[in-house]
Amino acid sequence: MSKIEQLPVSGCHPVDGDRLRFACYIKEFKALHAVGDTKNAEKFLAEIIDYIVDAFSDQERMMTRIHDERSNYLEFGNHLREHANFFVSLREARSLGNLEAVEFIERWFINHTINFDIDLGRFIKTVSPHNQASCGQFYK
Ligand SMILES: [Fe+2]
Repeated sequence: MSKIEQLPVSGCHPVDGDRLRFACYIKEFKALHAVGDTKNAEKFLAEIIDYIVDAFSDQERMMTRIHDERSNYLEFGNHLREHANFFVSLREARSLGNLEAVEFIERWFINHTINFDIDLGRFIKTVSPHNQASCGQFYK
């Protein structure tokens, strides 16, 4: 089991997302890269980046809602900056190569999940009157 699959969850499904799919994309990329299939490996790199873009978009929508309507999400600004800085760092990592980019994404995702996303999910659950069952009300 990969480190991503072993990450703790917040219990808020939209924040926890589909990490198994994300972990699978990374495994597939590495397997294809290892055998020199760069063309197909690049397809998985594109899937990985699409996943991140979608996850950021969903989280930022939820953060905006809880920050504006329900309570004051104190990490709002820091969390948004983390997402924005990711793309700056990703551009640098991609200039080193696709494998370096995927290894950067994997490290960044693990650190970001531990330092921001788990707390966001738990915060949403605390401000949501119906807790876990209604956590999805902040989603889309
Ligand atoms: Fe996040």
